[in-house]
Amino acid sequence: MHQLHGALQLVENADREQLLRLSRTFLRVEEIIDSVTDLRRLLDLIMRESEQVVDAETSSLLLFDPLHDDLYFEIAHGPKGESVKTVRLPVDEASIAGATAVRRTPINIPDVRDSHFWNPDVDQETQFETRNLLAVPMQRKDRLIGVIEVLNKSNGDHFTDDDTDVLLVLANLAAIAIENAQLYEEKIQAERLAALGQAVAGISHYIKNVLTGLRGSMSLIDTAIKDQEYELLDRSMLVLRRSYGRIHHLVRDMLSYSKGREPNPRAVSPNKIIEELYDLMKESALSKDIEIKIDLEEDMPVLWVDPEALEGILLNLITNAIDAVYERCLIKPDPPGMIVISSSYGHETLRVSVRDNGTGMTEEQQLRIWTAFYSTKGSSGTGLGLAVTRKVIEESGGTLELESSLGHGADFIFSLPSPPV
Ligand SMILES: Nc1ncnc2c1ncn2[C@@H]1O[C@H](COP(=O)(O)OP(=O)(O)OP(=O)(O)O)[C@@H](O)[C@H]1O
Ligand SMILES: [Mg+2]
Repeated sequence: MHQLHGALQLVENADREQLLRLSRTFLRVEEIIDSVTDLRRLLDLIMRESEQVVDAETSSLLLFDPLHDDLYFEIAHGPKGESVKTVRLPVDEASIAGATAVRRTPINIPDVRDSHFWNPDVDQETQFETRNLLAVPMQRKDRLIGVIEVLNKSNGDHFTDDDTDVLLVLANLAAIAIENAQLYEEKIQAERLAALGQAVAGISHYIKNVLTGLRGSMSLIDTAIKDQEYELLDRSMLVLRRSYGRIHHLVRDMLSYSKGREPNPRAVSPNKIIEELYDLMKESALSKDIEIKIDLEEDMPVLWVDPEALEGILLNLITNAIDAVYERCLIKPDPPGMIVISSSYGHETLRVSVRDNGTGMTEEQQLRIWTAFYSTKGSSGTGLGLAVTRKVIEESGGTLELESSLGHGADFIFSLPSPPV
């Protein structure tokens, strides 16, 4: 209210020249608020405008820290502004900024030497000689946001009442910008926490599942030893190994997702890697009535690729394909489950496609599957597979594309730049 009254007063009192200058400043500040997204830079620009419009040599902006009930310098112009950033001023009558915050009204000091408030420590720190000073509070409704100070009137002995009114309007604009940024930050933080909570819940569920397998195999091993049943020992070791493998992959995926890894290209034959994986997975696919076929480039040269990356990508894509085909066949057994892995080479780029006739995905699903921890598999999936796969491909300078529609399977196609050896 005070600000609005001040602004109106200002407009009534101002001559034409002044009015033009003021409206230009307000327009520029509004433009700054609309176009600058980085809060610190935005405040920096508002303070420069403030200095100009009230003819101040320098200025500073202090923000209120409700946790410590004090003020700290967010922006401090002037020759040694940076050194003042460690100074904190309590919200009390001991300093001008503190008193402005307590009283929530402007304080205009025409000559600092006559002021009982004057605390020369800050001047000593900044090696700046303050002659006169004007401080105004920044607030939103009743909430204190901070204090703006302008120092040393350039063409005059001290700051005027008009200067106070202009600065109050600018302080109000700055307060709105700060509050918006703080609210935005709080919202982002809340979203991050929610996402983190979901991720932790998902991983805990997954790990709990693996632990159940581990506990089962431990009691099986106990029984096997007690009864000297070696066949049972074999079976329990199988469960133990599978559980170990699941935790191992989880940790590997989490590490590559959070840290990333440097590609480590070596001379390899990509077709050989595909064939090895085919051998590894064809039996378990067949046990689910799914046939895997390979269709490899005949003239594939030995290439310069990262074999671990290639293996990891293929493993994730083939596992997903098996899951999707299996899920579809449970509901609709015809046509028989089929996965085709094909490779080709051209323009120094290796292209591999993993195509399946599984469930397929809606367009909306296709947008979401790349997000870490998005999974439709409950506790049997972590939702990290595709996020990691895409990251590894992009780290190698490649691309990953998807063609799919609901009920018509999916085709994941990736390209890796790989010069011949
Ligand atoms: N070939 C596919 N066909 C249909 N849906 C798929 C296919 N591949 C992935 N999806 C969908 O994308 C989701 C995310 O896949 P992603 O590999 O990231 O995680 P996940 O397989 O659920 O778990 P994991 O981390 O164990 O791999 C899957 O849960 C599934 O819904
Ligand atoms: Mg997966």
